[in-house]
Amino acid sequence: MSAMFCLSQKYWPVFGLLLLVLGSSIDVTEAKRIHHKFAAFGNRIVGGQEAEEGVAPYQVSIQTLWRTHICGGVILNSRWILTAGHCANGFGVQDLQIIVGTNERLKPGQILYPDEAIVHSMYDIPAEYANDIGLFHLNDSIVFNERTQAVQLSTVHPPVGATVILTGWGARGLNWPPEERLQTINLTVIDHGDCKRAWDDNDGVDIGHFCTFTRAGEGACNGDSGGPLMWENKLVGLVNWGAPCALGKPDMQANTIYYLDWIRRNIAECKHRVN
Ligand SMILES: *[C@@H]1O[C@H](CO)[C@@H](O)[C@H](O)[C@H]1NC(C)=O
Ligand SMILES: *[C@@H]1O[C@H](CO)[C@@H](O)[C@H](O)[C@H]1NC(C)=O
Repeated sequence: MSAMFCLSQKYWPVFGLLLLVLGSSIDVTEAKRIHHKFAAFGNRIVGGQEAEEGVAPYQVSIQTLWRTHICGGVILNSRWILTAGHCANGFGVQDLQIIVGTNERLKPGQILYPDEAIVHSMYDIPAEYANDIGLFHLNDSIVFNERTQAVQLSTVHPPVGATVILTGWGARGLNWPPEERLQTINLTVIDHGDCKRAWDDNDGVDIGHFCTFTRAGEGACNGDSGGPLMWENKLVGLVNWGAPCALGKPDMQANTIYYLDWIRRNIAECKHRVN
């Protein structure tokens, strides 16, 4: 029974196309609707700045074998990467590499290869982007050093108003390519009810999400998905979805405190694979 969680993903031959739609922002209708109303984007993440060298040693870039950046993620331990469900879903693990230990996604500290992908069994249920969390198991162990470290998981929810720090190689605006150097931005946790109202009670703002918002021109963008939101040096969230990009609506992040049991259970059940 538990082995179910450890089954590998089937190969999907269409991942070239999926690249176009994968990202922090999947609500294409919403994107199209509001894209024309706002034009000016800030820099990078959107509105962020370049991250200091080594500031996020737990950050990974999930890439195709030909180095196209798909998503962010974090190192849980020497064999496990945590990311968004939509990042672990729909790609053959044999077509992916995961780079660690660098701010420059084209200059890896180390390159690791996933041999399994696990997506939450309730991914997209009951609404799109619900339970948007996933794991990659690596076929070899990460070598830890100053630039390459496991993330610490917070067990405490950041309160409304807390500043959380996002890092990622996501684009500076819709339809831009991912950044080559890691970017960072501070975002503010907002009330869940306020967030849901800002999204007209959209079902995609789920119990497993928390929302961040500062102002239009600041937020996550395509390629930031799966990447970390940190509070008091611990992981509290992973980029899930939003209006691409930073158009003045809150971004939804997978709440990793809500999913702590899921994370621990899945790693434990697949422990036999970790040599
Ligand atoms: C891991 O997978 C990669 C890519 O398939 C392969 O080149 C490498 O030899 C594998 N490493 C181990 C330890 O099996
Ligand atoms: C971001 O937040 C952190 C932690 O609260 C703080 O130390 C840092 O100065 C902030 N950075 C910016 C650019 O505001």
